[in-house]
Amino acid sequence: MENKIVLTGIKPTGTPHLGNYVGALKPLIEQSKTNKTYIFIADLHALNIIKNPKDIKQHTYEIAALMIALGLDLNNSILFRQSDIVQVYQLATLLMNVTPKGLMNRAHSYKAAIDKNTAAGLDEDAGVNMGLYTYPILMAADILLYDTDVVPVGADQKQHVEFARDIAGYFNHTYGKTFKLPEPIIGEDTGIIPGLDGRKMSKSYDNVIPLFAPESELKKKIMRIITDSKLPEEPKDPDTSTIFQLYKNFATESEIAELREKFLAGGMGYGTAKTILFEKINSVLSGPRAEYERLMSNQSEIDKILEEGAKRARIVAEKTFERVHKAMLG
Ligand code: ADP
Ligand code: TRP
Repeated sequence: MENKIVLTGIKPTGTPHLGNYVGALKPLIEQSKTNKTYIFIADLHALNIIKNPKDIKQHTYEIAALMIALGLDLNNSILFRQSDIVQVYQLATLLMNVTPKGLMNRAHSYKAAIDKNTAAGLDEDAGVNMGLYTYPILMAADILLYDTDVVPVGADQKQHVEFARDIAGYFNHTYGKTFKLPEPIIGEDTGIIPGLDGRKMSKSYDNVIPLFAPESELKKKIMRIITDSKLPEEPKDPDTSTIFQLYKNFATESEIAELREKFLAGGMGYGTAKTILFEKINSVLSGPRAEYERLMSNQSEIDKILEEGAKRARIVAEKTFERVHKAMLG
């Protein structure tokens, strides 16, 4: 894929972990080298969950610092804060008028909330705010505002991107061709990164290794990875080992082959394998981690980068919004 307009949003609701890095952030940075890429921190989308502004702000800085520290090319890509572009709130309001309510009823995130309430014997809409219910409309506004061609997302967000495409279609049908139809791309097979307990690494399972954990914490977490009870001399299966699965995403081809051999041959205890893993991850991440820590203690530098990004994003947002406003209101 080359020369496409790529856009994705990252919700500032938690501290990113190695699973997010391998499954989402690293591929995003790679493809931003060959495509114009908008990456924004979806703070408006966090509002239906996080009620403390300080937390949203802190997570916003964390994600921005992280993308910069990981080497996002700031010339080729536009990094900004969703809430800095006023046109996105405006476009969301206008899009409401071409969005069938039934489409929102079918959204996975809303349906999951209903199912949870029903199972608990509560009213089906208990605790559901309109931010959650209209979440896909705001997301459609994000996508359509920047003439986006493709949206890289995790599988859980695919439906939302399809909704954005549907909404663009309804709009174009009523008002004439105004929007491009965006397409989701689901991260090609990086596989699921396992967490400390062997299940998918996820903040919902409390089994994560934070991407920029300080060195001592990184080591402690890696040493806590659950293994089977094979003795050092026994041969071990690399393909079912969390240690090996993690290693594969940080080492070179020849290093991977070498560790695979050691697993299969026997003679290496899990403690040694964990030390090899720690040293590898630490050597790959220590440079970016130092840059991340530097940025986090210089937040005005992050503010400047986000403001610069917003300036560039606004140029396109203003144009699109004008086009839509004209189509609907003359
Ligand atoms: P979490 O499960 O911790 O809540 P998110 O759902 O916020 O993570 O995921 C954000 C992005 O990171 C998604 O694109 C998702 O596909 C990717 N991701 C999350 N966990 C993993 C994992 N264990 N392996 C691979 N990719 C992951
Ligand atoms: N909803 C996405 C998530 O929860 C974040 C997001 C908001 C997004 N707006 C977007 C992703 C636009 C892609 C495009 O992860």
